[in-house]
Amino acid sequence: MFWKFRICRLIPVLILTVYGGAAAFAQMSPGTTEIDALKTRYKRPLAIPFPDNAPYSPQLATLGKKLFFDPRLSGAKNLNCASCHNPSFGFEAPVDRAVGAANKKLGRHAPTALNMAWVKPLFWDGRAATLEDQAAGPITAPAEMNGKFADIVRTLNDIDEYRSWFATLFPGEGISRKTILTAIATYERTIVSGWSPFDRWVDGDEKAISESAKRGFVLFNGKAGCAGCHSGWNFTDNKFHDIGTVTEDMGRAKLEPNNPLAKHAFKTPGLRDLTRRAPFTHDGSQKDLESIIAFYASGGVERSSRSPLIRPFSISEQETADLVAFLKSLTAEKTETPMPVLPN
Ligand code: HEC
Ligand code: HEC
Repeated sequence: MFWKFRICRLIPVLILTVYGGAAAFAQMSPGTTEIDALKTRYKRPLAIPFPDNAPYSPQLATLGKKLFFDPRLSGAKNLNCASCHNPSFGFEAPVDRAVGAANKKLGRHAPTALNMAWVKPLFWDGRAATLEDQAAGPITAPAEMNGKFADIVRTLNDIDEYRSWFATLFPGEGISRKTILTAIATYERTIVSGWSPFDRWVDGDEKAISESAKRGFVLFNGKAGCAGCHSGWNFTDNKFHDIGTVTEDMGRAKLEPNNPLAKHAFKTPGLRDLTRRAPFTHDGSQKDLESIIAFYASGGVERSSRSPLIRPFSISEQETADLVAFLKSLTAEKTETPMPVLPN
């Protein structure tokens, strides 16, 4: 059922073995056959993987979308998932750390909800195994939506349209914690970043991206070492790494206390639609793409948990501009997310 994830995990290994040598890349210039071979590693999948226990149906995804945008899932009926995962901002919030029901900044930056069908496990530290488990977190967390499932089930049952949607889609089950979470997770799996200039280039349109962005692609896969972790069409290995940021947050170490590399390690975020998603990283401390590239070039904080894949490298102004042009080419050209009209 999740066979696609296994394929994704192989990609970083292949890139490291086949393309890892910076020397091989030094010779590479845009338009060569090596680049054509490399492009195939970033080709978009044509279908969304849905798990067997929550197969896709348009009705279920539509119901899930209503719930994603419905503030009545929160204790004070004032916050919905989109409060912090807003489609206009690449399904994030345009602040370092979003403010929830407790009217205080949360501990971490809201990550994107884009392309979640391919991302597992969930959260910066990977503490939720599935989207269904994940969605229960923010709904009930006092600092986030501060809802209670008993109240939510009652509220939704009082709304005829919701009652009949659930009765039709979950015969014999109706509205419950489980069915609410299944619907939300199904909608989330349909949130897929749109075709970008980069995708058109991968598909063979040489003019789709600038020469600068093509040089950036080479840097990304070569000297800058980004593809060691940001691999595959969604630009993530779904693994945890300490990239050397200044942070008190223990990250993955909370779940893997005996793994020395888990300290300050966070899940590699996908890089699609980045231009809408600033600020960046788990604490939102990087304000733009230029600053995060400068951070990587510096190598960050040297400590025993820092990934061996992170090491200082020299980068000129032109190369930074090339890398930025490449990253910008990953933003979809046209995206629309119509707001659902919620039942009353
Ligand atoms: C008040 C802000 C806020 C609200 C409301 C909120 N989230 Fe989040 N969301 C976050 C933050 C912050 C994180 C990261 C927390 C962490 O990793 O510890 C997160 C993480 C996630 C992730 C994990 C992404 C990944 O890459 O692992 C998903 C998916 C998600 N939220 C979906 C939802 C859904 C669905 C809802 C509504 C039921 C919701 N969120 C409501 C702030 C919010
Ligand atoms: C060792 C693995 C690794 C390498 C190599 C790496 N990254 Fe990352 N990247 C990550 C992880 C993990 C995070 C999240 C770190 C955090 O929040 O502390 C991240 C975060 C980011 C973000 C922020 C995305 C967001 O949603 O906040 C961008 C942009 C980014 N990386 C681009 C790059 C570029 C460009 C390079 C090459 C110069 C690169 N990365 C190299 C693992 C890596």
